[in-house]
Amino acid sequence: MPSDPGIGPRYQDSTKYRRHAMPGMPSVSVQVPLYKRYERPLAHIELPAADTEGGPGLWATVARRRSRRRFTDQPISLQQLSQLLWAVAGVTAEQSDRVYRAAASAGALYPNESYVLVSQVSDCPSGIYHYEVREHRLALLAEGDYSLEISEACMDQASCASAAVVLAFGAVAPRCGQKYGDRAYRYIYLDAGHLGAHVQLAAEALDLGSVNIGAFFDDEVNHLLGLDGINETVVYLTAVGQPHLHSA
Ligand SMILES: Cc1cc2nc3c(=O)[nH]c(=O)nc-3n(C[C@H](O)[C@H](O)[C@H](O)COP(=O)(O)O)c2cc1C
Repeated sequence: MPSDPGIGPRYQDSTKYRRHAMPGMPSVSVQVPLYKRYERPLAHIELPAADTEGGPGLWATVARRRSRRRFTDQPISLQQLSQLLWAVAGVTAEQSDRVYRAAASAGALYPNESYVLVSQVSDCPSGIYHYEVREHRLALLAEGDYSLEISEACMDQASCASAAVVLAFGAVAPRCGQKYGDRAYRYIYLDAGHLGAHVQLAAEALDLGSVNIGAFFDDEVNHLLGLDGINETVVYLTAVGQPHLHSA
């Protein structure tokens, strides 16, 4: 009997599309909401409108993009945070009943919710926020500076402790699974990769530093964000701040 190749190869193999053995496609009607809403009343921070034109050229930004892990204690502005969130998950088009966002997403389902742990942002109290996409605003989930906690949850990475903000992406797996079944996890991770790339390019264009974070204690980050780790679980984070000159 061949040995078990392990969960990774088994997952990859059992979620392949095969020309003559396609899985039954779930119903296309969307039952799981495309947006997360908290039932409890929350305070909000309205974000200034993001610029949709101008900025440095794309090629120059791609050429300069680098992971930067050392940040000064200088804050970023609310306008910069607005620009980052818009470039990652902001609405860029609306067509009939569909709303499209800045980063691509399989089936336009956008399973990854965006959270911001704010430590140093002008005109924005420290706290943990959920980004409300359609309203382009932040909903306050918990007040206070959680830079130490998020750094510990990310295996003591110093970048998270000194960042002005840490963005975290939580995957609502059933939102994607309702259309793609078990293959959804592939798309969730691919989607998250797009989000990470957009944050880094936006940060670079704003002269900010950023580093994507894939090494973290899942349930510790989930706990900080108030996620159950099953219906929604953190998949990726990005630390952003004012970079030290020539930092890496
Ligand atoms: C999926 C993924 C996970 C990563 N996780 C971490 C991380 O936990 N900590 C870190 O410091 N860098 C992390 N990085 C950044 C990589 O180390 C970095 O992209 C790589 O060294 C290439 O350098 P560059 O981004 O400057 O081109 C991650 C990058 C990716 C794409």
